[in-house]
Formats: sequence, structure tokens, C-alpha cells
Amino acid sequence: MGSVRWAFRCGSWTPSKGDWLLAARCIQREEKDRIGQFVFAKDAKSALAGRLLLRRFVCERMGVPWSQIRLERSPRGKPYLAAPLKVGSDSGQAWSFNLSHQGDYAVLAAEQGLQVGVDIMKTTTPGSSSVPEFFRIMTRQFTAHEWSVIQSAGSEHQQLAAFYRHWALKESFIKAIGTGLGFNLQRVEFHLSSEALTQGRVLRQTKMYLDDEQEEDWILEESLLDSDHHVAVALGPVGEPGSACLRPSLPPPTTFTLLSFSDLIASASPLTEEDPAYWDSFKMKAEAPQRQRDTLASK
Ligand SMILES: CC(C)(COP(=O)(O)OP(=O)(O)OC[C@H]1O[C@@H](n2cnc3c(N)ncnc32)[C@H](O)[C@@H]1OP(=O)(O)O)[C@@H](O)C(=O)NCCC(=O)NCCS
Repeated sequence: MGSVRWAFRCGSWTPSKGDWLLAARCIQREEKDRIGQFVFAKDAKSALAGRLLLRRFVCERMGVPWSQIRLERSPRGKPYLAAPLKVGSDSGQAWSFNLSHQGDYAVLAAEQGLQVGVDIMKTTTPGSSSVPEFFRIMTRQFTAHEWSVIQSAGSEHQQLAAFYRHWALKESFIKAIGTGLGFNLQRVEFHLSSEALTQGRVLRQTKMYLDDEQEEDWILEESLLDSDHHVAVALGPVGEPGSACLRPSLPPPTTFTLLSFSDLIASASPLTEEDPAYWDSFKMKAEAPQRQRDTLASK
């Protein structure tokens, strides 16, 4: 089984005109148009980096030439490889992949023979409300057990970190099954392992319960890209629930590799003509909403 875990630090990416225009030429036209409509540069950069991560993965690991890759989205938005239909693989096991971008990073997780969902969450203090008020607004997103763990985590910052850790876990599962917003988040509950989550290693001990039953077939990989960014990767059986028990055959977990812009673009080839107006419009965008810029400036 193959595993890929890649991260790109889009928060500190300040693309030159040449980089931005080249990157825009190397993604599908409709994605370029979608990204062009973002109000803030931060969102445009992370979405563009996400598309490059996906294409780099399909090109380098699935062996599809860049120009032949056709990515589409499921009706609920999950990207998949629509063409070419036949892609060879050494082991005969199909790849599954998923993307997340939040905070300062875009991340990609891909796995052979399993379905995969990934979510990254940055621990941030709520802008307009106190932490207890923020938690009150979010009550319905977590179960009573999860809230007890979050609220007994220690200082407010530790409680927020526990909150975002649970959030990333929940989203990674939702993204693996591809349902998006339509899923009742109370149905899935996470029981964290007592082992501390530390940078540079991957924890696989967290347990998942679906409708009160432990899901032995699902594996949750958790890591910290830095002290503020939690990543969760959910790995599950490709077929019907309960169709296979994965744990014995799974290789050791892979940590995220940080890629540079040159890495992202290394196997790329342009799909569309150069569009200088795309740079002009990017340069006009504010980096992020004012509140986020204030938070960054105060660090
Ligand atoms: C769209 C959703 C799948 C994730 O959105 P998100 O967490 O805001 O964003 P992320 O950065 O993690 O992921 C976005 C990427 O996921 C992928 N994606 C989109 N829809 C998806 C789906 N249904 N399933 C899996 N992946 C999906 C896309 O690649 C997307 O990036 P792109 O549009 O630039 O290609 C959806 O689950 C959502 O909006 N969830 C919020 C629901 C909620 O209330 N969660 C609370 C959890 S406690």
C-alpha cells in the first residue's frame, strides 16, 4: 500500500508575477476562474496550491502526464480523477486522495486501497466572542463526551487546541466518505488516546464511534504540522462498512513532507495561455479579512 502526505506553506508564499501566472496556467481553466473570484489573496493562494498538490500527486504517483489529468468533483464537491479512466498501479490497488487548506497550509493525503479524508485546522482565538460563548455557539457540532474532553483540557488555549483537534477528526471522516455538509455530526464521536500529540510523529490511537459503535475498520492519523496546526487523516475501507479489517496490513504512518513552490510545479506543464490580467486582479486583493490581518500583525 502506498501513502503520500504532502504540505505546502501557503501562508508565507508571496508569489512573483511569473510564479503566479505560471501556476494559473497549470490548472484546469474552470478552477483558475473559480480561484480568480476569491476576494482575498490568502484564499486564492491556498486554493491554487491545493490544485497544484492534487495534480502533482496524480502526475508523479499515479503516473499520468500533467496535460492528460482531468479532475472533477463529486456532486458534493469531493475531487476525483475523471480521466484518464485507466491508470496502472504497481500493486493493483486504486489510489484515493483528498485535500484541505486552512490556516497557513494546504495539505494532501493519498492512500492506496483505502478511502481517505484529510482536514487541517489552525488553533485560533475566536474574533468576536469569548471562548465559552464560542463553544456555546458550536454546542451541536460535538457530543457530550467530546465537550467534556475539550472543556477539561486546561487553559483556554488548550481547550481551543482540543476543540480544533476534534474538529479536524470529524471533518477528516466526513471528507473521506465525501458527504460534505449533509452529515449529522453527533453520529460520529472520537475518543482521544491519552498519548500526547507532539510534532514530528503521527498518532494512530484515537478511536472512532459511529452511532455508538466503535469502528474498528477506520484509522485516524493525527499530527501537528507546527504547534498551531492539527491535521487528521481518516482512512477507511473502500467497500461496504465492515468489509475489511485494515489494521494488521497497514504500513507505519507517514509524516507530512513540506514542499516548496518549485516542488509543486516541478512536473507541471501549462494547460492554458498566459493571462496577465490574472496577476493584475490578484495584486488588487487584500491578503485576508481585516480581523485576520490584525491577529497576524499582533503576533
Ligand atoms: C466542504 C467540506 C467538505 C470541507 O470544507 P472545509 O473544511 O471548509 O475545507 P477544507 O480546506 O478542509 O477542504 C476543502 C477541500 O476539500 C475538498 N472537498 C470539497 N468537498 C468535499 C467533499 N464533499 N468531500 C471531501 N472533500 C471535499 C476540496 O478539494 C476542497 O478544496 P478545493 O475546493 O479548493 O478543491 C465540508 O465538509 C464542510 O463544509 N464542512 C463543514 C461542516 C461543519 O460544520 N463541520 C464542523 C466540524 S466539527
